[in-house]
Amino acid sequence: MLAGKHVLLIISGGIAAFKSLDLIRRLRERDVQVTPVLTRAAEQFVTPLSVSALAGTKVYRDLFDLTDEAEMGHIELSRAADLVVVAPASADLMAKMAAGLANDLASTLLLATDKRVLIAPAMNVRMWDHPATQRNLATLQADGVLSVGPNSGDMACGEYGPGRMSEPLEIVDGIAAALGEGSLQGKRILITSGPTHEPIDPVRYIANRSSGAQGTALANALADLGAEVHFVTGPASAAMPRAAQITRVETARAMKDAVMAALPADAAIFAAAVADWHVTSASDSKIKKEGDGLPILSFAENPDILAGVAQLKTGRPKLVIGFAAETDDVIAHATAKRLRKGCDWIVANDVSPETGIMGGTENDVTLITQDGAEDWPRMPKSDVSRQLAARIAEALG
Ligand code: CTP
Repeated sequence: MLAGKHVLLIISGGIAAFKSLDLIRRLRERDVQVTPVLTRAAEQFVTPLSVSALAGTKVYRDLFDLTDEAEMGHIELSRAADLVVVAPASADLMAKMAAGLANDLASTLLLATDKRVLIAPAMNVRMWDHPATQRNLATLQADGVLSVGPNSGDMACGEYGPGRMSEPLEIVDGIAAALGEGSLQGKRILITSGPTHEPIDPVRYIANRSSGAQGTALANALADLGAEVHFVTGPASAAMPRAAQITRVETARAMKDAVMAALPADAAIFAAAVADWHVTSASDSKIKKEGDGLPILSFAENPDILAGVAQLKTGRPKLVIGFAAETDDVIAHATAKRLRKGCDWIVANDVSPETGIMGGTENDVTLITQDGAEDWPRMPKSDVSRQLAARIAEALG
């Protein structure tokens, strides 16, 4: 329950600052006390009056405001709240935080606080990807700063990619989890993600087009609700989750061993695109062209990791969820797959090349449960993940 909690909300400069007005509204609806702080740059995007009206309280604006100093010193201000939230967190403010600068009210509060800090970054995609920002993020994470987002999508600057501030309700989830009030607090969730690589020889392998983006998005959404996430991933190109225990594997057989070693779990989600076969004739040395004609590969079936866990007699997670990537008769195939594998839910999607789903940022899924098929509208993978995480929280009670 968030009611009665107190959040110090620092709004820094950026077009996403307008979403912070809605964030304040969402927090107030949940009876959270919000003390807002605006940086000078933020005042170019939202007015102190609108922030103050929504928060129902005074807005703190400048370090050298002597009246504020007399009323409440910045040390006290930084410690009176249960949590400090920075939304949006601009590249500039993240850099100041990482460097420990204190040259305005926001950065001084962040340096003086003894409370946990949660940032919701928002910036241009190149600024986000810049090594300096990624270095600052790593420093902040090592300092124990929590983060939510950014999401991928169209940006106000006309570019596309990661950098959009998380939606207000995602930040509310992040705040709840940071305060130990997340709906998945205390739950342990295992996720498989990415492709597997099945070696042919030391330099060649068989793989697939999975990027691991859906698995990472899911891990982030579950962690935002307070879950303890164990992430077993093949060689994925997507970023790794922000807060998860990560085990990296290459082959399907190694993935199975890592999954078994990671149990028990309250829920297990199999988002990996596992190769169905491995090469039994794999060579220890590089296969050369000048042999006896074309190489002949022989295959054996890989273990079905999802079916193995779903059919465990003891230690089966309460909720076992599979994904079904299909190119035709999606619902019929996925429904049959749910029964055949013995899992509780299947998240089915059409991965025909024209959908752009495999390796893309959006997904168009049908959730298949014992109650039938539920068609979800096409949306970013981060939104699919948030909705799925909320459903998982409901099911785990
Ligand atoms: N899966 C798994 N281990 C495997 C194969 C698949 O854990 N060896 C899981 C996937 O992570 C996914 C689900 O099973 O959650 C369905 O994967 P999919 O490739 O669609 O199913 P297959 O069993 O491989 O069926 P087919 O390729 O015949 O469609």
